[in-house]
Amino acid sequence: MKNFLSISDCSAEQLSELLELSGELKKLYKSSGRDLCLSGKTLAILFEKPSLRTRISFQVAMTDLGGSAIYVKPEDIGGARQGGSSLRNAPPKQEACRSTIGKREPIKDIARVLSRYVNGIMARTFEHSTVIELAEFATVPVINALTDFSHPCQAMADALTIAEHCGRLEGVKIAFIGDGNNVARSLAFACAKLGMKMVIASPTGYELDGESIQKANQISADSVSQTNDPVQAVADADIIYTDTWVSMGQEEEKQKRLDDFAGFQVNAELVKSAPANVRIMHCLPAYRGFEITDEVAESANSIMFDQAENRLHFQRALLKKLMS
Ligand code: CP
Ligand code: NVA
Repeated sequence: MKNFLSISDCSAEQLSELLELSGELKKLYKSSGRDLCLSGKTLAILFEKPSLRTRISFQVAMTDLGGSAIYVKPEDIGGARQGGSSLRNAPPKQEACRSTIGKREPIKDIARVLSRYVNGIMARTFEHSTVIELAEFATVPVINALTDFSHPCQAMADALTIAEHCGRLEGVKIAFIGDGNNVARSLAFACAKLGMKMVIASPTGYELDGESIQKANQISADSVSQTNDPVQAVADADIIYTDTWVSMGQEEEKQKRLDDFAGFQVNAELVKSAPANVRIMHCLPAYRGFEITDEVAESANSIMFDQAENRLHFQRALLKKLMS
């Protein structure tokens, strides 16, 4: 395992081992133990989009393991967004999106230069092809820390949280209410690999793409299904999961999305249609009053903050596995 770009690239055994290691390191660190396996090592963390959880948890994880992280913001590596110092003519495709990595110099050069300085690269980018190209040219491990396509670190922290709260993964039923987006896609692959079932309830036009559903169901038959009915989706759910209706980069579509997602809010009425002990998950940041109500987010069923904490515990294990 050189890189961590997609859940679907990993075997079920590799994923289970990572979850086991996450649990072991969590216990170690909770009891004030330390594992300095990354002593003297450095991780470059590249961001084209904002972050709270991912940035801080990766930085803390590196410090915990005896290493360090260097935060690189979009302007540092991408060059001026409007004119200015960038002499390189970006191809039209890159001009049309918000990507900054690859604007000042080719992605393949960034990958090879960073590989001479650091022991690992973590990147949060708009285009998924950016992390793929970084991985292709880097000689050090590359970690996908969210792209428009996927968010594998989130899905693994989610699996760790579900295992802790439900006591198992096999057969756990997740009702994902909302956008068939990057978070839904990685969670679908994690469900298929780890024995969980997922039903995604989205408004028409916002479903997870058929290719991803097919891929998940090729990994494990009938693991992922789609509906337009949130009430039906939650009826026998162990977990209700939601995410923002407007992902980073979709701000211009905000009003249309808010209109289209009406009826897909995780609120007390929807939770009443689920079993009484259903757990509520959200990758955060949560937009209360939109995809979830404050009442549900703050309810006893909510495990959102255990979930956020587990980003740190999973990523320690991932960094140890890839970089030590
Ligand atoms: N869930 C998540 O990735 O949060 P951030 O965007 O704050 O990193
Ligand atoms: N789907 C959201 C997840 C944020 C962690 C986004 O991409 O903005």
